[in-house]
Amino acid sequence: MFNAEKFIEQQIKKIKEDVKGKAIIAASGGVDSTVCAALVGKAIGDRLLAIYVDTGFMRKGETESVDSMLKRLGVSHRVVDASDEYFDALKGIIEPETKRKIIGEKFIRIFEREAKKFGADYLVQGTIAPDWIESGGGLRDTIKSHHNVGGLPKDMNLKLIEPLRDLYKDEVRKVGRALKIEVAEKQPFPGPALAIRVMGEPTRESVAIVREACAIAEEEIEKAAAEGKMKLPWQYFAVLLPVKSVGVQGDIRAYGYTIAIRAVDSIDAMTAVYSKIPHDVLEKISIRVTNKMKDKVNRVVYDITHKPPATIEWE
Ligand code: XMP
Repeated sequence: MFNAEKFIEQQIKKIKEDVKGKAIIAASGGVDSTVCAALVGKAIGDRLLAIYVDTGFMRKGETESVDSMLKRLGVSHRVVDASDEYFDALKGIIEPETKRKIIGEKFIRIFEREAKKFGADYLVQGTIAPDWIESGGGLRDTIKSHHNVGGLPKDMNLKLIEPLRDLYKDEVRKVGRALKIEVAEKQPFPGPALAIRVMGEPTRESVAIVREACAIAEEEIEKAAAEGKMKLPWQYFAVLLPVKSVGVQGDIRAYGYTIAIRAVDSIDAMTAVYSKIPHDVLEKISIRVTNKMKDKVNRVVYDITHKPPATIEWE
């Protein structure tokens, strides 16, 4: 049985021993990196600097809320707006693994830049067990190269610290709860963020569509769960398909994109089953998405595939 308190105690001791100089961490606001930042912060105080990179792919209101959360946790941090750089680098890029590689590499380069400014010797990462197992680090095939693993260039000259490397998601959440981090209950979110929830080229426009659809899906599902209409799924979001289909707006023929809603139940992300969301909740999402983005989206579908054979993200 996993003991969160014992894990925290052992890790703080180990980090104190291992990290002799200054360290830098990428704070995305997700469960993994926030737990990591809090843990390392407890061990070495302001010898840790958390960097939040606004890639342009973050969810609605996310940058503001991560900034204030890090303030509350007392983790010293800096917000870097790198959105122009990211949209430029992904111009014309459609293939998901290429997206991940570009995003991962850029992320490390921005880090190196910030690390140099801070005089850091160490890079702390919130890699967890499924990240490296699915990236071919174990005995399995490479399913997809996760952001934390695949994007790491060989010539990176910072020493790597990965305190959550042996943990599964449910264990990370237990650690978060023990550290009294409110984010511990947040749903998982991929490193490359909304860029992999746009099937096709991530542009300012396509990312804005999926950002709005994700916000609506989250809001309606969380509201229905709070009202006791359904259990909150383990993960729930929207993806944007690049294919256009015919619809009608009033009595005019429309030609718009499709949004797919994905919601799954899982314990460790290794396998998942699709959530049986009540139809009236799906209907509300569909109506709100198509009303809000009348000129852009005219079709909403629900993904009823388990993992395997699908993965949770579409990419
Ligand atoms: P898949 O799509 O492989 O996702 O079934 C499994 C879980 O991992 C999340 N995910 C990521 N998490 N960095 C992360 O930290 C990533 O690059 C990444 N890609 C996917 C995904 O949202 C799901 O919870």
